[in-house]
Amino acid sequence: MSLFSDIGSRLSGPSGIQELMDDLGIALTTHPNIRMLGGGQPAAIPEVQALWRERMVEIVSESETLDRMLLNYDPPRGNPRFRETFAAFLHRECNWSVTAENIAVMPSSQAAFFMLFNLLAGDTGGRKRRILFPIAPEYIGYANQGLSEDMFVSCPGIIEERGPHDFKYRVDFDRLKITPDIAAICISCPTNPTGNVITADEFTRLRDLAREHDIPFIVDNAYGHPFPGVIYTDFTPQWEEGMIFSISMSKVGLPGVRTSMVVASPEIIKALGNMNAIASLANGNVGQTLLSGFLADDTLLRISREIIRPFYQQRSDRAVAILQEQLGDHLPWALHAREGAFFLWLWFKELPITSAALYKRLKDREVLVIPGHYFFYGLKESLPHSQQCIRLTFSQPEAIVREGLEILADEVRGL
Ligand SMILES: Cc1ncc(COP(=O)(O)O)c(C=O)c1O
Repeated sequence: MSLFSDIGSRLSGPSGIQELMDDLGIALTTHPNIRMLGGGQPAAIPEVQALWRERMVEIVSESETLDRMLLNYDPPRGNPRFRETFAAFLHRECNWSVTAENIAVMPSSQAAFFMLFNLLAGDTGGRKRRILFPIAPEYIGYANQGLSEDMFVSCPGIIEERGPHDFKYRVDFDRLKITPDIAAICISCPTNPTGNVITADEFTRLRDLAREHDIPFIVDNAYGHPFPGVIYTDFTPQWEEGMIFSISMSKVGLPGVRTSMVVASPEIIKALGNMNAIASLANGNVGQTLLSGFLADDTLLRISREIIRPFYQQRSDRAVAILQEQLGDHLPWALHAREGAFFLWLWFKELPITSAALYKRLKDREVLVIPGHYFFYGLKESLPHSQQCIRLTFSQPEAIVREGLEILADEVRGL
């Protein structure tokens, strides 16, 4: 008999996200020579790091703040003062009609999605309820979060080829069916891995579909609105009753604090808080303490706009210039429209091996990328396109990105 339960086996087996995080951890600790073009690690941006350091020093010198941060268990929905501050920030800056009752602080958005998906979907009164992702590819980190089998369904995006080396995914509304088993619609925007940002029209149509079927529309804003704002379109989604928005502290350079916020109806917020009590008792306090003042005086929005977004845009432009120089016209390749987030999504239209085989060959040459097939889950059919893409991050220092891309180009030229 197996040592592990069914749920235990499902969660403890290998998964794309575990492989990615293991690779990232190894590159950042024991094998620093590896060219890390893989994980979603935010870049070290000196001005931003300085800001967190200065605030840390202030906190350490304010004994009352420090003691409160280290000593107290907060309520499982988050610190009531922080929830007030965050709701006031969203009200003031985003014009969202929210109060503290609409805010839950969670121990990372990864944890928040785990709770949220299993709160809404899974076995329900003898029937299976599922989360629908309207555009595959979608974030690798969702793929293995279901506590029961077959909890996710996704719809392949329509590929719009916009130039010899340029394409964009669009929602295929003709195929997108909200069947009775669908418990919620979920999209990351900007999307990890592609950098896609849905258009205002796509957003409205997805919202309306969710409304019509009385199910939540979940938007994961990890890279976007309102911070870190790494988004190059004017997409500024408006939260409304019935929607669930997730906002993370990680991509402003604080993945180490493991804190995120969910904006939702009080019913969902209460349920998430109760689940958080069971899973974690309470959240870590460090992120909330660090960020409170910067929310109140809008520093966070200023650094997002003036430092973080231009930084990633510049890194992305440089990485693309290197790619163009290295790949030239040797073989058909295309990049997804760069509309946000920290990644390049590269499609080799005639790749003679799978993206997983390419990943292995590159790893042997000390370059880490993420093979694209992990981002295509919940599909009803097999999709050759899913074997032809890789995700690259450009957040590491330019010399590393250059070396990595040169090796990548050399490898694919030799195939
Ligand atoms: C789209 C998306 N959602 C959620 C997460 C998880 O972020 P967190 O660090 O808040 O757990 C990530 C991390 O890379 C992500 O890319």
